[in-house]
Amino acid sequence: MSLGTTPPGTSGEKQASVWVQRMFADIAPKYDLLNHLLSFNIDRGWRKVLLTRLKPILIRPGARVLDLCCGTGDVLIDLQSAAASPIIGADFCHPMLVTAHAKSSKRGFQAPLIEGDAMQLPLADASLDAISIAFGFRNLVNYEAALHELLRVLKPGGLLAILEFSHPPGLFMRIAYGFYSRALLPFIGSLISGSREAYTYLPESVSKFPTATKLQDMMFTAGFADARFELLTGGIAALHLATKSTARA
Ligand SMILES: C[S@@+](CC[C@H](N)C(=O)[O-])C[C@H]1O[C@@H](n2cnc3c(N)ncnc32)[C@H](O)[C@@H]1O
Repeated sequence: MSLGTTPPGTSGEKQASVWVQRMFADIAPKYDLLNHLLSFNIDRGWRKVLLTRLKPILIRPGARVLDLCCGTGDVLIDLQSAAASPIIGADFCHPMLVTAHAKSSKRGFQAPLIEGDAMQLPLADASLDAISIAFGFRNLVNYEAALHELLRVLKPGGLLAILEFSHPPGLFMRIAYGFYSRALLPFIGSLISGSREAYTYLPESVSKFPTATKLQDMMFTAGFADARFELLTGGIAALHLATKSTARA
């Protein structure tokens, strides 16, 4: 059976995808505020690690880099600030992209934005030097199919970077984070966003998400070379990196 997000009350990939798209549209106006508030701004540090790992590619003139599931554009803007060429943003939620456009314009960037589904990207085979996905991969409806799609659009030697919530290996962190994400987070999140379902879905989708080791295995199985990960903040998040083998077309 394929692994992917399974929001409550949905059956099948199509319904799951529509649910995720609508849920992000509902919370888009409050997304940034809640993101930083609920993570006590720790998410900024995680995004900085992502930026550091991508920097050698970003500074290469002409490098084509995609920030997939770009949402309101925080990673996109960070990457753009360090990049020699325009970073492409893609997301299937229109209201999130509207905010990404406004924020990047305010910073003086003309980010090329694509409104499209990560499961079927409107991009040519072997056309990208790197792809980043921050907190978007977990929401995809079929992880195996998504990895194949990402492999398709990467150039041989291209880098995939997935930043995602994970599973703390230490008991103390697991208990503390479990309490926070199951009790406090849905309460604060629903109070501010008005959407209880979004902030109940978040910890549920994290608990169902594969462990870092399992995701690493999935990346190898999909055909990536050199799949590796680093745990961040005691394993609350993980940064996965993998390369498309130069032997692949
Ligand atoms: C948690 S947000 C992360 C946004 C941003 N990357 C960040 O770090 O703040 C997840 C984003 O993934 C997008 N997303 C989820 N499934 C998608 C899909 N199948 N195709 C494109 N975007 C998708 C959502 O619309 C949402 O904007």
